Amino acid sequence: MSTMLASQAVASDQCLPTQDGSNPCPVELHRPAHAPLSEMAKIGREIFHDPLFSGSGRLSCASCHSPKHHYGPSGAASVFLGGPTLASHGRRAIPSLTYLEHVPNFSIGPDNPESETAPVLASAAPDANRSPKNAAASPTISMVPQGGMFWDGRADTLQQQASGPLYDPAEMASTPEIAFHRLESTKYIQRLKALGGPATDTSPDLLLSEALFALARYQIEDPSFHAYDSKFDAWLEGKARFTPEESAGYRLFNDPTKGNCAACHLDRPLPGNLPPLLTDRQYEALGAPRNQALMGPYDTGHFDLGLCEVMPGGIETSSAYCGMFATPTLRNVAARKVFFHNGVFHDLHQVLDFYVLRDIHPERFYSRDAHGHLQVPDDIPPQYRSNLDRTDAPMDRKPDDPPALTPQERSQIIQFLKTLTDGWSPTRP
Ligand code: HEC
Ligand code: HEC
Repeated sequence: MSTMLASQAVASDQCLPTQDGSNPCPVELHRPAHAPLSEMAKIGREIFHDPLFSGSGRLSCASCHSPKHHYGPSGAASVFLGGPTLASHGRRAIPSLTYLEHVPNFSIGPDNPESETAPVLASAAPDANRSPKNAAASPTISMVPQGGMFWDGRADTLQQQASGPLYDPAEMASTPEIAFHRLESTKYIQRLKALGGPATDTSPDLLLSEALFALARYQIEDPSFHAYDSKFDAWLEGKARFTPEESAGYRLFNDPTKGNCAACHLDRPLPGNLPPLLTDRQYEALGAPRNQALMGPYDTGHFDLGLCEVMPGGIETSSAYCGMFATPTLRNVAARKVFFHNGVFHDLHQVLDFYVLRDIHPERFYSRDAHGHLQVPDDIPPQYRSNLDRTDAPMDRKPDDPPALTPQERSQIIQFLKTLTDGWSPTRP
């Protein structure tokens, strides 16, 4: 308890790395307790790896969410090929499934640390620990969207979520009928029915929902989904030292006038000494460039509008949320080869250049229309472009301003991002 108060009380700039790269205010992180997997979670593990479920019979959850790649994509393709014959393009990049266990339900509420609707965020955002962030204070939106799963928040829980890819025609392309039928033929079906109770014998819906529950239990219980064993976690605990480059990167990541990354990718231990999640679970319109590689001949007029498309009132009442996507965790991000919701970037240097140069050299990122006019940003239709976040540093520049970060500083931030990869040990840095 006393450590918790102490960590909140220190002003954030006092907790920056010392000369020798160590943490001047170490905390003992409170990690999820390790316990043997429940029977339900063990069944979930089998389902997760079982290609039987997909329409093609060839895709399991693990095909896209690769266990060796922190449950993210194994390769550099922007999106994954799915569907009944594995020929359909997905629309969005495959996210990592690590660190989703605390995601609060989707809600729209005040950007308020005491908010009851978002207990996790509440603890995630003690004011003293947080760099300034302006998008939430925009005159059109005083309430901010938060929580939820997927790039657009359309599912609330891991259980609800799993039916998404399972039945998506471009992903696993299954149907409840196929899933039910195939479930009946698995070697774990009797165990699942035993746990689900007699009603699962007669109700396919109930049986399927037990299967989805099992998948969720696996992701919640298995420690590999939330190891919290990166170098950064060790650093927070005072058990590792940053290199000079990592220290510099961490400072820039937190400096509100430089990277300002921590304004959205929260990196301070949470009250109760829970490890930080490197996201505030909110949504922003950063204006990722249109991914021309995903565009077929019929896609000219089609835009992925993100959050506003899944809001209950539809686009008409929610246009202020068009172009917004979830802020992802940066844990394990350096192990990825594809970045942003449409997978448009393939290298962290491209991501950093985009943050820093978007408003100074927009022509480097965006395309022109038929009349030669630069479309800023080119993946959000003109009527929604005012939603673009232009207030949060480093995206607050005018064309003649100096960039918020030099190329060397951008590389230093990348060195810090590499400390967020799980599986670090002092002997194998
Ligand atoms: C064909 C590739 C593919 C398969 C197979 C697949 N997924 Fe996904 N998954 C994705 C993509 C792409 C997204 C992001 C979609 C979006 O945001 O619109 C996603 C999103 C998710 C999310 C939300 C993550 C977040 O950050 O909010 C979870 C959880 C998830 N998948 C779990 C599963 C489970 C469980 C299975 C097996 C039943 C599965 N996925 C099968 C591609 C796949
Ligand atoms: C205003 C909030 C905000 C700030 C500030 C911010 N980010 Fe982000 N970050 C986001 C959002 C939102 C996305 C997803 C955007 C999308 O997919 O369209 C994102 C995506 C990313 C990704 C890609 C992750 C993935 O899995 O695809 C990286 C890397 C990243 N940010 C790093 C940084 C760094 C480094 C900084 C500081 C220079 C920073 N961010 C500042 C909100 C923010």
